[in-house]
Amino acid sequence: MPKASDNHRKTVRLADQKVLRGAGGETHQSAEEDVPQLTTQQGIPVGDDQNSLKIGVRGPTALEDFHLREKIFHFDHERIPERVVHARGFGAHGYFENYESLASITRAHLFQNAGEKTPAFVRFSTVAGNKGSADLARDVRGFAVKLYTKEGNWDIVGNNIPVFFIQDAIKFPDLIHAAKEEPDRGFPQAQTAHDNFWDFISLTPESIHMAMWIMSDRAIPRSFRFMEGFGVHTFRLINARGKSTFVKFHWKPKLGLQSVVWNEAVKINGADPDFHRRDLWSAIQSGNFPEWELGLQLFDDKFADSFAFDVLDATKLIPEEQIPIRRVGRLVLDRCVDNFFAETEQVAFCTQNVVPGVDFSNDPLLQGRNFSYLDTQLKRLGGPNFTRLPVNAPKCPFHTLQQDGHMALVNPQTRVNYEPNSWGGELGGPRESPERGFQSYPAEEDGPKLRDRSESFADHYSQARQFYISQTPVEQEHVADAFAFELSKVETPAIRSRMVSHLLNVDKGLAETVARALGLHALPKPAEAARPTRTDLKGSPSLSILLNGPDSFEGRKVGALVTEGAEAGLIKALRGVLDEEGAQLEIVAPAIGGIESSDGSRIEAQQTISGGPSVLYDGVAILVAEKAVSRLMADPATRDFVSDAFAHSKFIAYTPAAMPLLKAVLGYDRLDGGFIQLKATADAAAFIKSCRTLRFWERKRKAEMRERRA
Ligand code: HEM
Repeated sequence: MPKASDNHRKTVRLADQKVLRGAGGETHQSAEEDVPQLTTQQGIPVGDDQNSLKIGVRGPTALEDFHLREKIFHFDHERIPERVVHARGFGAHGYFENYESLASITRAHLFQNAGEKTPAFVRFSTVAGNKGSADLARDVRGFAVKLYTKEGNWDIVGNNIPVFFIQDAIKFPDLIHAAKEEPDRGFPQAQTAHDNFWDFISLTPESIHMAMWIMSDRAIPRSFRFMEGFGVHTFRLINARGKSTFVKFHWKPKLGLQSVVWNEAVKINGADPDFHRRDLWSAIQSGNFPEWELGLQLFDDKFADSFAFDVLDATKLIPEEQIPIRRVGRLVLDRCVDNFFAETEQVAFCTQNVVPGVDFSNDPLLQGRNFSYLDTQLKRLGGPNFTRLPVNAPKCPFHTLQQDGHMALVNPQTRVNYEPNSWGGELGGPRESPERGFQSYPAEEDGPKLRDRSESFADHYSQARQFYISQTPVEQEHVADAFAFELSKVETPAIRSRMVSHLLNVDKGLAETVARALGLHALPKPAEAARPTRTDLKGSPSLSILLNGPDSFEGRKVGALVTEGAEAGLIKALRGVLDEEGAQLEIVAPAIGGIESSDGSRIEAQQTISGGPSVLYDGVAILVAEKAVSRLMADPATRDFVSDAFAHSKFIAYTPAAMPLLKAVLGYDRLDGGFIQLKATADAAAFIKSCRTLRFWERKRKAEMRERRA
């Protein structure tokens, strides 16, 4: 009888690993006392996971090899359909903690007591790109929160922008078709910079307000941790007496708002396509738990009736200056997923998931969403039992009479699967509870059945203008640049011009700047507006990112470019002040093995210069030693490190030895207030103090002045 092949195995060392080597040179590792046995899905121990069953070592493979077949079969079915929108996302666990009882406003269990903690799962996402697209696409970010309350799951499925493109759900498939890859060619991926998108937008004036937001830096956030979230629609909160209060939900990041600039975003996508997910993962893994406060904008029918716009129109917001935000609790993300697929990919958010004390408004976009999400989960997750997956299942007791279907994990265990029934007690199964059960708010509704848009939705430009005038000059410039960039990728001149005709209704200066940048021969006439643009709406500072930045450098990152012989004291001082600030230092060195510093100590590197370009950092320090600088001056990655940090208006710390490098890359007269020389260790603190304002925007202004003079 032939012997089992493991008799041929020999023990060998692969550097630090002791393994078994088979007759063909392949590597085997065996189960031991503390290493579990590999089994098939049926629990049968596997003897050899390196070789399929063959008739003779060089012969055909036997169909009888059930381990091979099961392994390949399972692998072949690993993929499920990705989400039709928001396919690329990243999730984490945490909790929501309520500050004070809101019992007078809502009966929702999670808001009854101060200090009540509710487990949460949050998934951030981009909208247009496929699952494998890059994180820093110009796009809306999804901000979906699942709250596992003691009275069921409540999903606030929001975005990082408080308004939306369309007013009625019936337009959603058109919007998404227009935004995604064009169907004949299958590109562009994860970009709105193409004809179909701007063709649709330019023929859908209700989207102009949202277009302003996505052309702003809101669409290129620095981190999920530094962006706001919005429930967008008007919802209702209902108290125990059945009183309804309208509400809009806001998430306010503890670390303030921050975005990158477009040129940086483009480069980050190349340097680290996982920039946002890596950032969230690292923050949580290092114990710097991201945090947001939940803000409520509460208002009654009287306000709704007197507000200049319809509160059921998702293309409008209510300025915080008009209805202030009441901060009622905090959301903390403190645990990464154990498995990306099981949790982040299989989590199923549904806007229809509300709990007693929360209810919908008649916003027609929300009403359509309430159908869409449940429907799409059935397709994506393959059956009606997706609600039983651990990430989707409630964490409170739940009992339904629903049964069977694909992958039924938990069916009712008694004889009863219907009601009413005459079996009492436990045998009779669950029954309705009029006291605590969900009650819809009995809003009075009547009217003819019709397919019409309310005239109260017809103002398309007033809030777009209000958004624009609320931006700082730097931000306004970024909006103009973004329009010029996106429309420059549009091949059809009529579409470019049509978009400018809308911008003329928003702000003439903006329209002219974009037209100039596009090289339009003549300004078009303003698009015929359904309602004239209101010019009486005042700017709302809460709509600007730069006016709502952090007051510290906490949570941010400095990249220090070092060479052999770099000053040990300076590196230590920089690390010290960053630690104190709650920020991070990453060492960028010519080789990943690190450097020997001035006092002979070794400093580990986290990045090489080509792997750690300055676009990955909020501020940079050039801590090179004199003897190494001339070699660096000829290195393209080093030159980009310096010139990008400069062009992106970052604060730059440098040692005197770095001067020749700065001069070689930037020229002689470019050192400005954004450069901080590190002569002594005390200078590190001054550098970090400057970094608190995040960018030295005056540099951009100076460059423009220089350009104009030239
Ligand atoms: C205010 C407007 C909207 C917002 C804020 C919004 C937000 C979101 C978010 C955050 C997700 C990702 C959920 C996740 O992380 O898994 C998502 C997914 C999705 N949205 Fe929306 N959306 C909006 C409008 C709509 C509309 C109008 C429809 C359809 C009528 C729609 C259909 C979908 C679908 C089908 C998915 C994929 C769900 C999945 O597979 O899990 N959305 N949306």
